[in-house]
Amino acid sequence: MRMYDIINRKKRGEHLSREEIQFMVEGYTKGDIPDYQVSALMMAICFQGMDEEETLHLTLTMKDSGEVLDLSEIEGIKVDKHSTGGVGDKTSLVLAPMVAALGIPVAKMSGRGLGHTGGTIDKLECFPGFSTSLSKEQFCRNVNQIKMAIMGQTANLAPADKKLYSLRDVTATVDQLSLIASSIMSKKLAANADAIVLDVKTGNGAFMKKEEDAFALAKEMVKIGKNAGKQISAVITDMDQPLGNAVGNSLEVKEAILSLNGIGPKDLMDVVYALGTEMVLAAGKAETPKDARDMLVQTIKEKTALDKFAEFVTAQGSDKRFVYQPELLPTGKFSLQVLNTEEGYVSHIQAEEIGLASLALGGGRLTKDSEIDLSVGILLHKKRGEPVHPGEAVATIFANDMEKAKEAYGKIVHAYQIQPEPVAVVHMIKGIVR
Ligand code: URA
Repeated sequence: MRMYDIINRKKRGEHLSREEIQFMVEGYTKGDIPDYQVSALMMAICFQGMDEEETLHLTLTMKDSGEVLDLSEIEGIKVDKHSTGGVGDKTSLVLAPMVAALGIPVAKMSGRGLGHTGGTIDKLECFPGFSTSLSKEQFCRNVNQIKMAIMGQTANLAPADKKLYSLRDVTATVDQLSLIASSIMSKKLAANADAIVLDVKTGNGAFMKKEEDAFALAKEMVKIGKNAGKQISAVITDMDQPLGNAVGNSLEVKEAILSLNGIGPKDLMDVVYALGTEMVLAAGKAETPKDARDMLVQTIKEKTALDKFAEFVTAQGSDKRFVYQPELLPTGKFSLQVLNTEEGYVSHIQAEEIGLASLALGGGRLTKDSEIDLSVGILLHKKRGEPVHPGEAVATIFANDMEKAKEAYGKIVHAYQIQPEPVAVVHMIKGIVR
């Protein structure tokens, strides 16, 4: 088999066989096939696309390029949740303990933040002593004992995807639907839960800016999951403004704890309940979406989800004190209010710009190895649709460096758009693909 022929066949729009896809992925991962040939193939795929079978073969070959987690020691239907990434997205921190409080095993692998979006692992590291580098045995033991565990991605998870994604990143070949879907799903399938619920975000702060693209990606990923024998569904959710009011690691953890205490922001809770309903249904714990939702509501009312979160934080090396007294979590030394100058209603908050403001404060990573300041961030006091008056604070910045706070201030002012007329209600849940 020759890589030249594979490129040439895809260039002409022909179907690639499983053997050809395996030859390319395995050869590239081992270093036998050079970057320039794989770049050419990726570009040909951007123009010609891949069909369902090719996409599945690419996903499965990338999944099998590294370790596939063996979770057979965990009893019950293990559920996992994945978000395509957004600003202020602390959904997992609220959702996982709610679902676990119902006795459903949540075995989750998460990533760190990069650029304007945050990551669950960074947020959890706000708890002093918290460890996300669990051995597989510890991970399974925790899920069996307390029904939830979250660990960082193992170094050997879908290494072929890691190499291919880095190449796509510098060759303008990221934004092809089948390539994105197979990249995300190769990692999810390697994490090997029985049921997967996807949160596919759409809007200015999301990877998929257009709703129709988010639906197309959701359908593609659900198809892959089903073909791989998993129980899977995807919820398409709004990311046209940050989710909730807090952006920045420690502030987001505090907001998650408020949510577990029953005082979470409505937009965040809408997303939490929609995803949670899918997880409960997938685990076979409820017959109807209404029953599933009612069960989840009870975990908040009775504080069983809050107690579950405290148990989880303790089991992974920190102390439940931080859950019951979140004021002990780190906060930036200075605070600075962002003042509005116009009369009207908030029509838009550019999520990406708010994410970049948090990055400017030191709360995010420019490169994979950057150090981050967990204590800084932004609290939004006004969200889409709310009336605002001149001189009123729309947000508060928490910082450790005044110069950085001033830079963030400019970005936040820029992010807010005010209009004189009232704003139409936007629904958080755009649809569900099952
Ligand atoms: N996220 C991924 O993991 N892969 C892609 O290709 C795009 C986004």
